[in-house]
Amino acid sequence: MKTYSVAVIPGDGIGPEVIRESLKVLKTVEEIHGGIRFTYDTFDWNCAYYLKHGRMMPENGLEILKDYDVILFGAVGDPSVPDHISVWELILPIRREFQQYVNLRPIKLLRGLESHLRYKNHEDLDFIVVRENTEGEYSSMGGRMHSNTPHEMAVQNNVITRFGSERILHYAYRLAEQRSKQRLTVATKSNAINHTMTFWDEIVKEVGANYPHIDTELYHIDALAAYFILKPETFDVVVGGNLFGDILTDLGAAMVGGLGLAPSGNINPEKNYPSMFEAIHGSAPDIAGKGIANPIAQIWSVSLMMDHLGMPELGKLILDGIEEVVSEGEVRTPDLGGNAGTERMGDAIVSKIKELAKKKRYNKMIKASH
Ligand code: NAI
Ligand code: MG
Repeated sequence: MKTYSVAVIPGDGIGPEVIRESLKVLKTVEEIHGGIRFTYDTFDWNCAYYLKHGRMMPENGLEILKDYDVILFGAVGDPSVPDHISVWELILPIRREFQQYVNLRPIKLLRGLESHLRYKNHEDLDFIVVRENTEGEYSSMGGRMHSNTPHEMAVQNNVITRFGSERILHYAYRLAEQRSKQRLTVATKSNAINHTMTFWDEIVKEVGANYPHIDTELYHIDALAAYFILKPETFDVVVGGNLFGDILTDLGAAMVGGLGLAPSGNINPEKNYPSMFEAIHGSAPDIAGKGIANPIAQIWSVSLMMDHLGMPELGKLILDGIEEVVSEGEVRTPDLGGNAGTERMGDAIVSKIKELAKKKRYNKMIKASH
């Protein structure tokens, strides 16, 4: 029996609500597989913890997390604590210290859902964004001067390193090699950001020389944002820095049905540290406590977790379960135009996964993975 340790951080708002459903799914795939076990520890690090202790996690928080195989993260953020504190003291240190330099964000329109893009269907909307997750614009390099004077100023530097750029580009190219279109789209803005982005473009060229069979396209971010809407079917893997990747994926999420459907993996490919799986949405204070949050994004992040742990057959089973429920259309949360609650949606996905697992195709696939 192979055991995986999972650190669970439900966080704030709808975080705990959607985490609950994703844990049900984890338990279900564990039962179906039969040869694996997940052990959990749950940490109450969130804004309430901050109000009590003056920090988002204990001083040795990262030390505590370091030895887990993976982290399952809900969302943080509450109106009672400034957002830059909850983000900078919890999520960003985990992403950086654990070298989770890949932020993997699939943009995929599930069967049965319609895109806001009137002429695009699920065959047109199936690509993956690789976002650099440790540097770029989200660097703490900078500061403020002359506070409370008319000369007040703030500088935040955009940090692009050769090391950080090479590793994210190699990852993106290797991912492109595994996919059907053999194409990598790179976000840049070297026409206007003439130091860091020209450096990035040079590294793209150098790294790309190792992958001559992959078709590389570089687009300025403004044009790329427009192409997301106009010709999403041309994308396969899209790579960009921290800020561009962040913005593009909220746009991507909106194209495939909204934030309730967009998962992400913060990946340390070398597995020297735990990787962290979460939805890309936040704590959604506007609907928190109502039991109506869509748990799909969080459950999908468990599918990405299975891929990362080397069990893609379980990842596929989970994603197919989600897609089947959405496609049948009977159980839908309000963001998808239905009236089912979070729990009902989670239960429907669990039942569907169990049902699919009994089918010959899945049964064979799962047995083969032992
Ligand atoms: P948000 O993603 O929490 O919400 C944006 C909108 O999407 C809201 O109308 C919300 O109701 C809806 N929404 C989000 N997830 C949903 C779901 N699963 N089902 C149905 N509807 C859903 O972003 P917002 O409002 O900008 O931020 C709220 C808080 O979350 C802030 O404190 C922010 O800092 C934090 N945040 C945390 C993140 C994280 O933990 N990784 C990421 C983004 C924001
Ligand atoms: Mg974002």
